[in-house]
Amino acid sequence: MPKVFYTQPDGTERGVEGTAGDSVMQIAVRNGVPGVLGQCGGVLSCATCHVFLDEQNADDFPPVGEDEDEMLDCTAVERAASSRLSCQLSLAEGQHVRVTVPETQL
Ligand code: FES
Repeated sequence: MPKVFYTQPDGTERGVEGTAGDSVMQIAVRNGVPGVLGQCGGVLSCATCHVFLDEQNADDFPPVGEDEDEMLDCTAVERAASSRLSCQLSLAEGQHVRVTVPETQL
């Protein structure tokens, strides 16, 4: 099973298992992980699924696409080099990923 470790702005971390094919956003929303809203359901029109992807996982996903890049300019917390929209981070079987949730999404 893929597993995502979500670190909150206060440093607390929670690991949640998902199913292959799930996105980092879907696992967060389904399990009530604070700070990941995913208001548009994953169609790249809200930017409320913003996370900072751990450096160790930077090469585990396809690079930021054009549409994701545009939406990342609309995040509530200023974009960083590690910023991703978590609805675009689909997990493979057995994959382990660490992300940090921003202070706010709105
Ligand atoms: S859930 Fe809306 S852009 Fe990711």
